Amino acid sequence: MPNKKNYSQALQHPIFKVISQATAELQIDSYVIGGFVRDLLLERGEHKDIDIVAVGSGIELAKKVSSLLDHNPKVQIFKNYGTAMLHAYDMEIEFVGARKESYNLESRNPVVEDGTLEDDQDRRDFTINALALSLNENNYGELLDPFNGLEDLSTKLIRTPLDPDITYSDDPLRMMRAIRFATQLNFRIEPESLEAITRNKERIKIISGERIVVEINKILMSEKPSIGFALLHKTALLPIIMPQLTALEGIEEIEGQKHKDNFWHTLEVVDNISENTDNLWLRWAALLHDIGKAPTKKFHKKIGWTFHGHEFVGAKMVYKLFKHMKLPLNEKMKYVQKLVLMSSRPIVIADEKVTDSAVRRLVFDAGEEIEDLMTLCEADITTKNPKRFKKYHNNFKKVRIKLREVEERDHVRNFQPPVSGEEIMETFNLKPSREIGMIKDAIKEAILEGEIANDYDAARNYMLKKGEELGLKKA
Ligand code: CTP
Repeated sequence: MPNKKNYSQALQHPIFKVISQATAELQIDSYVIGGFVRDLLLERGEHKDIDIVAVGSGIELAKKVSSLLDHNPKVQIFKNYGTAMLHAYDMEIEFVGARKESYNLESRNPVVEDGTLEDDQDRRDFTINALALSLNENNYGELLDPFNGLEDLSTKLIRTPLDPDITYSDDPLRMMRAIRFATQLNFRIEPESLEAITRNKERIKIISGERIVVEINKILMSEKPSIGFALLHKTALLPIIMPQLTALEGIEEIEGQKHKDNFWHTLEVVDNISENTDNLWLRWAALLHDIGKAPTKKFHKKIGWTFHGHEFVGAKMVYKLFKHMKLPLNEKMKYVQKLVLMSSRPIVIADEKVTDSAVRRLVFDAGEEIEDLMTLCEADITTKNPKRFKKYHNNFKKVRIKLREVEERDHVRNFQPPVSGEEIMETFNLKPSREIGMIKDAIKEAILEGEIANDYDAARNYMLKKGEELGLKKA
């Protein structure tokens, strides 16, 4: 049954009127399609990227649109893809000619020919992304929905226009996109599609790390990232793209002693932290905070399961994983490593009898990351025992209070040595030497241990004392 719904009211923005006029002048047809239409119908707020399909040349249409706009924006042309792009009204508008793809049996490359709107819709990823609104004068705003995408929007279903095996093998990244949209929109993936993803999972290997990361980041930035990771796990894509995570799965039992399933625990931690932060890299830290547990797991007859040094091993694994996935190897990676490395530290000091010096050392080592580290540790509490849950949270509340007290008093968060190396050299008439580092270290240790205050006078007196101990003479 043809769908004759009209959305001309939603296309009142001047840019659509201009595209419509350009279309008429070129005597072709054009449609707005894809994410803009999907998000409009879902009332998901403004979508700044607009995709236009021209039944004709997308490049010619873009040029025409530019000529009709006041400032004649620059048209960027991607000849190889037959697409063009311009910026107008703070929006990025992409133009593509409708295409029909047919596969030549002898070659694996598609033969691309000009096609109709329907041909173009056929080759799109999901029914909800194939919805098009007409920009033609005779039916402006009419919805063209050959695959019942509108119904899939209301029943919250991810479904491919064609046989899913074809859609996914045309572009295997779509397997990740299906899971990403299911997570972002809280939609179900049609069972046949899910099966096709599982069947075609190995094809993900031909997709670049960068493109996969874009999707993983979008999953991580969703309200409940565990939906996406559970689907990646279910379709067996996860062991291909992040084997370090799936290695955490499972519960082992020896002599009646079990450990928790660190994979499902990790997903809970990521969901927890997502309630408290929109910092993508903090969410990455939550995802990776336990990855060192698989290689360090051991059973000891007396004490049961241990994961000694997993934070250290985990931090090293972060580097390898970032490198392999083509994530940035810059300060973002270092931040994630630092949080993984320190992820157990606040737990240790959550003990009632925690000393000020332990708190000072934590603040000193965590520096700027102390708040984020606390957020990570609080998200790490996944016990189902309500009494323990409350107790652990209360302990961290106490830690936060102690952190504040110690910081207000001692200011070790952005520690600067109160006595400089130059002053030590001048005082004892020294050339650059090992002694200077030893004295500086001793002063820092004394401050962190609480033996002396974090100020100049105390540090200078301590320097003189240390110098004497080392047999140095004042200049
Ligand atoms: N598309 C596709 N297959 C892909 C990528 C994109 O069929 N692998 C089509 C879909 O019709 C999609 C449109 O191109 O709606 C635009 O793609 P893109 O801008 O990547 O995504 P959006 O759907 O706009 O969504 P978002 O901006 O949330 O990524």
